[in-house]
Amino acid sequence: MRATCLLVGKAHATAAAAIKPGMTTMEVNNIVETFIMDHGGYPSFKNYHGYAYATCISMNAAVVHGFPGDHILKEGDIMSLDIGIYKNGFHGDSAYTYAIGEVPDAVKKLLRVTKESLYAGISKARAGNRIGDIAHAIQEHTEKKNGFGVVRELVGHGLGRDLHEDPQVPNYGKKGSGPKLKEGMVLAIEPMINMGTKDVVHLDDGWTVLTRDRKPSAHFEHDVCITKSDPDILSSFAEIEAAEKANPNLVWSYA
Ligand code: MF3
Ligand code: CO
Repeated sequence: MRATCLLVGKAHATAAAAIKPGMTTMEVNNIVETFIMDHGGYPSFKNYHGYAYATCISMNAAVVHGFPGDHILKEGDIMSLDIGIYKNGFHGDSAYTYAIGEVPDAVKKLLRVTKESLYAGISKARAGNRIGDIAHAIQEHTEKKNGFGVVRELVGHGLGRDLHEDPQVPNYGKKGSGPKLKEGMVLAIEPMINMGTKDVVHLDDGWTVLTRDRKPSAHFEHDVCITKSDPDILSSFAEIEAAEKANPNLVWSYA
């Protein structure tokens, strides 16, 4: 499973290295899909409940489940790219939000805080803790400390031979609530955080989720294995961050 999850990070990094203004989101999708097929995997999302593409690409006010298409990337955009790969009998699933060219400081802060909240949640992913401990840590960092909105309608999930397994992993909740975490469980933890209202609307394409106020939204996702000791992050952002840093078209410092 770790090998599959690491391959998702490499697929992201391949896309991240290529991103430039003028490119369409379908071109980004195709880079990822080609990478997946070339590495003996299958895109987990393609044909999942009728979803037609290898990736979800959610621009700006789109929260998740956006379709790749003819949107042309331009300076000031943020692009949430979600990639799933099925290989070796298991799924890997990881999302990352990229900032193209210069973006306002408030947007950089949204990306930084969302990524930080993912790690705050991961720090609670320990045997004996409960799902609510992860959820609470994410909500505290984003809503309470930084005034952003946690999307309620969509949640993280167990991951394994199926893309979506029990338990659900909400990004809001009470400490000590929900299912108990056990050694060997793998969770896809994926905060979806809005700059403004937490409320979302669903487009009539049946998939795309947008913020109600059309302010930007960010999404970062890691796959985490519960162990006897520290959380074991099976996916990796290391290559993504290196590609971000090396690509002059991407913002890599959210300070
Ligand atoms: N990473 C998302 C999730 O975990 C992507 C699912 S897109 C779908 O739910 F098309 F596969 F549904
Ligand atoms: Co997921």
